[in-house]
Amino acid sequence: MPCSTGEEPYSIAIWLLENWPIVDVYNIEIVGSDIDTEALQAAARGRYGARALSKLPRDILDTYFEPEGDGHREIIRDLKESVKFTATNLVDWEAMAAQGRFDIIFCRNLLIYFDEASREVVAQNLYDALHPHGFLCLGHTESMSRISGKFTARRFPEAIVYGRG
Ligand SMILES: C[S@@+](CC[C@H](N)C(=O)[O-])C[C@H]1O[C@@H](n2cnc3c(N)ncnc32)[C@H](O)[C@@H]1O
Repeated sequence: MPCSTGEEPYSIAIWLLENWPIVDVYNIEIVGSDIDTEALQAAARGRYGARALSKLPRDILDTYFEPEGDGHREIIRDLKESVKFTATNLVDWEAMAAQGRFDIIFCRNLLIYFDEASREVVAQNLYDALHPHGFLCLGHTESMSRISGKFTARRFPEAIVYGRG
């Protein structure tokens, strides 16, 4: 969350399938949410044009996308069914609480557009939406450090993630 037209949650699902051999042992739920219901409809349809697909390797395209003839491709049904899409306003505590809790939340490229007061509300809502010891991942240009002192920043070679607890 926020997932816009679905590229991020489908990419996460594909990454897990390609890189985690025992993925089927776990009951993994991937939820993509956004405030924009039209974007969510497009996400659920999972149809992408040549530009969006241009950086994907051929084998990934052939495994997870059906060709449509006009340069577009559509996500295969099994993969679509592995991602649930829901409308949520991240600023709205009740709507967020209704989503339940998550082990990992990706909230990339949203906080940069918000004013300080809204960022603080969203930071608290995201914190509350994490399981204890869960992680929040932001976009490369975003940082939680100046917004909220509640998270613990963990540095990895290619990213900083924010832990609850
Ligand atoms: C720049 S896109 C980022 C999408 C994706 N995370 C990425 O990095 O490609 C920002 C998204 O935030 C959504 N958004 C804006 N305000 C929101 C809110 N209050 N709650 C949930 N989503 C929101 C927009 O509809 C848009 O799809």
